[in-house]
Amino acid sequence: MNNNITPFYDPLLSYEDNYQQGPFGDFAYLPKSSIVMPHSSRFLNFDVNLPFGIPAGPLLNAKYVKAALGYGFDLCVYKTVRTRAHKSHPLPNVLSIHPKGKLSAEVDTVLADHDFTFPISITNSFGVPSFDPDVWQPDMADAVLAAKSGQHVIGSFQGTPGNEATIEQDYANAAKLVDETGAPILEANLSCPNEGVNKLLCFDFTKVERVAHAIKNAVPNKPLFLKLAYFAHDDAILPLLKKLDGVIEGYSTINTLSAKPVDAQGQPALSSTRPVGGICGEAIRWAGLDMVARLARLRAELIHHFTIIGVGGVSSLEHYQAFRHAGADAVMSATGAMWNPQLAFEIKRALLE
Ligand SMILES: Cc1cc2nc3c(=O)[nH]c(=O)nc-3n(C[C@H](O)[C@H](O)[C@H](O)COP(=O)(O)O)c2cc1C
Repeated sequence: MNNNITPFYDPLLSYEDNYQQGPFGDFAYLPKSSIVMPHSSRFLNFDVNLPFGIPAGPLLNAKYVKAALGYGFDLCVYKTVRTRAHKSHPLPNVLSIHPKGKLSAEVDTVLADHDFTFPISITNSFGVPSFDPDVWQPDMADAVLAAKSGQHVIGSFQGTPGNEATIEQDYANAAKLVDETGAPILEANLSCPNEGVNKLLCFDFTKVERVAHAIKNAVPNKPLFLKLAYFAHDDAILPLLKKLDGVIEGYSTINTLSAKPVDAQGQPALSSTRPVGGICGEAIRWAGLDMVARLARLRAELIHHFTIIGVGGVSSLEHYQAFRHAGADAVMSATGAMWNPQLAFEIKRALLE
């Protein structure tokens, strides 16, 4: 691991230990000062200091969210929660990956190990763990209250097959529970690769439409984002955009690209039962940018009005600007921020120069 930077999530510790003991590195202490942006931006109908933040996943609980807000990440997504407790996969959950050349969207095989060298690409494999709502609801409410002027906490959630008679109902219940915490913006995760690459909910448009309507019926008054995976071409996503026009407020994309992480002997690096993992960081930036550019172009062509949160491999001002240029209304960084807790400060400082 790079000795200079301690990531705020420790890949060598279990999810539970990170939850209890983290965040680590700089995020363990609040900074002495912050950076004031002279002008705020608009995100939906909210003022935001800088439309930059951390997407669903790395901010496990209120301690993490408070640290991220303190370090100037103005849009913080509280980790995806469920309507019932759901255990994390065992270690390893995060490995460094070393693709040869450009990672494709075709489930490539990639070398994975614990050598976290920059620029970092990782595989993450957690299975979207969640505590019971009795635990996460008061904690999320605490996180929401920590947002200062120009900052916002977004509540991410997903339905779980089997928790309710239908998945639509479980998404709606999860949305209601998140709404009760006071989170001003909701995000439904439809793109978890750990539920099976070919089974991602976001590729089943009829179901997505039903899920979106069920959530909106349950919580009509809050903006709703859908977290999407990578769609390789216009025709693949157009029907979804048309079905959801006027139903939801925006898309957050991308989640991860799927790949098969293997060790030096060519064996599954996560475990034999988890041959595929979600890839994030440097290796997927091309796909995040491509998806954002496509959504922005289709938004203009269709004269739709959704908001786009661009995600994927952002670890510098240049990357932030590339996503904004591609049409993202806001930009988020998971892997980049985990290994550089100063990232929002660095971007703000550079913008002010
Ligand atoms: C440790 C970790 C946990 C994640 N967990 C979730 C999750 O629970 N829900 C979700 O929608 N995305 C999750 N993601 C995906 C991120 O939100 C993001 O879409 C992805 O990491 C790509 O961004 P990046 O290249 O900046 O890491 C997770 C990512 C990481 C690194």
